[in-house]
Amino acid sequence: MTTTQLLPATPANITAAARLLRAGSLVAFPTETVYGLGADALNPAAAARIFSAKGRPAEDPLIVHIHTLSQLNQLASQVSEPALALMEAFWPGPLTLVLPKTSQVDDALTAGLPFVAIRMPNHPVALQLLRQTGRPVAAPSANLFGHTSPTSASHVLADLNGRIEAILDGGECTVGVESTVLHMGMEQPTLLRPGGVPREAIEQVIGPVALRGRQHQPAHQALPSPGLLDRHYAPHTPLTFVTTPMAPADFANLVAGRVQAGRKVGVLAYRGHIAMLVQAGATPYDLGHEHDPAAVASQIYAGLRWLDSQHLDELFALAISPAGLGLAINDRLSRAAERVV
Ligand code: TXA
Ligand code: MG
Repeated sequence: MTTTQLLPATPANITAAARLLRAGSLVAFPTETVYGLGADALNPAAAARIFSAKGRPAEDPLIVHIHTLSQLNQLASQVSEPALALMEAFWPGPLTLVLPKTSQVDDALTAGLPFVAIRMPNHPVALQLLRQTGRPVAAPSANLFGHTSPTSASHVLADLNGRIEAILDGGECTVGVESTVLHMGMEQPTLLRPGGVPREAIEQVIGPVALRGRQHQPAHQALPSPGLLDRHYAPHTPLTFVTTPMAPADFANLVAGRVQAGRKVGVLAYRGHIAMLVQAGATPYDLGHEHDPAAVASQIYAGLRWLDSQHLDELFALAISPAGLGLAINDRLSRAAERVV
């Protein structure tokens, strides 16, 4: 058991956190997407501790975070023209590029793959921490493996207290869903995970990208992107994700039917549906307006964690229009769900 320090992200504490990272410790820190669980990416023993702290399987590779393009050549052996164009357009920001790795990157970090995932986060605390650490920092989301991702320091503490040395508290994450992961080493750039940078925005810069469906590979094989595992991001209370298009009143009726069957029901709810859902006897969590997917994205993980704390029997969520951030929202909710209908 390690004592976990919860540190407000003051300049002095950022300096202390950078020192911890250089010494091989684990430090969770805020990014614009979700909190990351950081370790020195070039220290294999430190990076290995990420897997045990999270309970993450060794075949799930890590994202490496940098604060300046001059750190790229330590990590990537080749950077193509389209990759550079994407960095110029979206870094710092919620886009992770998968590039051919150098020999300096330990195989354990990439789960044996010849490619490494890299991103430059757009968060002042993360950038300052990376600058002061002076080394690339490996960081998956700072949650227990398979659980809902953390968008506040208290979410990190709930999952990882006693397992890591420190948490830098920089408030709530603004984007709220993870970065878009784009593989640049295939014949065509391939979207492995939809995320904070919409596919449409990427295509405006480099043209069409291929979409990768869900992976169904044997567990012992390194997955092209294990974020694509079927069950991930999950709350403890079973979630039903409704993808069948339906009118708000029909959705409220569906929920009312469960309440009448004696179930305590929570709903990740769009603002316009809340009155009807309360009427139906459900406990709603306000995601904001359906027509504002950026606001909704920022709330889905906080919503799942809050509903999980309300002693409910089951949860419901309704799919959003898949444009822009909607693609990432639907992706996360379908993986968080026990049942998709
Ligand atoms: O927004 C984010 O990306 C957050 C913050 C902390 O930066 N990080 C994050 O990391 O979501 P994680 O480990 O939870 O998800 C990383 C995703 C996984 O789906 C992983 O399989 C994929 O990136 N990935 C990492 N390295 C890869 C590689 N070499 N090839 C293919 N996919 C890779
Ligand atoms: Mg994750």
